[in-house]
Amino acid sequence: MDKRYEKLLACRDYVRGRTDFVPRVALVLGSGLGGFASELEVACEIPYADIPGFPVSTVPGHAGKFIFGLLEGVPVVCMQGRVHFYEGYAIDDVVLPARLMKLLGAEILFLTNASGGVNRDFSAGDLMLITDHLLMFFPQNPLIGPNIDELGPRFPDMSHIYDPALCALIRETARENGVALREGVYCQLTGPSFESPAEIRALGALGVDAVGMSTAVEAVAANHCGLRVCGVSCVSNKAAGLSPVPLTHEEVQEAANEAAPRFTALVRRSIAKMG
Ligand code: HPA
Repeated sequence: MDKRYEKLLACRDYVRGRTDFVPRVALVLGSGLGGFASELEVACEIPYADIPGFPVSTVPGHAGKFIFGLLEGVPVVCMQGRVHFYEGYAIDDVVLPARLMKLLGAEILFLTNASGGVNRDFSAGDLMLITDHLLMFFPQNPLIGPNIDELGPRFPDMSHIYDPALCALIRETARENGVALREGVYCQLTGPSFESPAEIRALGALGVDAVGMSTAVEAVAANHCGLRVCGVSCVSNKAAGLSPVPLTHEEVQEAANEAAPRFTALVRRSIAKMG
């Protein structure tokens, strides 16, 4: 059997030894949603470090665990913390959690993150519905290697990576709850350095609205294995060259914290409708 699939099954078996909770929605908590778990009626928590072979993040503020519970009656698993390619993890490990969600029975992967605004109309604190992405500059497609046939096809279609019906649901939820929501194309680069102004100008010319260091590889792996995917990004800063001040991780975290109440409300109300 494929070694990557074996590892996935071992992770699944470990989780299944701790809980029989079957999530409908798997939610990846990006910057700004770290406190989201308090919205749940918690059934079970599993630190990533307990799960044999599961990748554990090294980034401050990203310490990881699964939190299983009900959100307005909808069975949800929150992933508090994710690993990034820039930490040095193999791409297979970066997308392992998304695939594990499928093996645990989830139907929907809801991705969130913080990003830099490339679109000049965007300001720090804006929320953006991700409608499509650019992964063409990323050094490694997450599906490279022998295809894991148990998960999906060799050449999966990516015409609708972010499920149109889920996008419509999130748009409608934002409107109903008076939450301003931008939408656009997200580009994942490796990081960990922020972009140069020339890179941001180039991305803008290519139609990118926001740039970040996560999410698109997870979306591709999730699509491959048949999860429905949606995503919302918190634009935490204007991208390099679009603002007079240098970018810092602290600025990203501050803006994400400021947006947290709106972000939480939008995600909570959207998931309630996914039940
Ligand atoms: N660039 C890349 N990733 C980011 C940014 C940025 O400006 N802000 C938050 N994550």
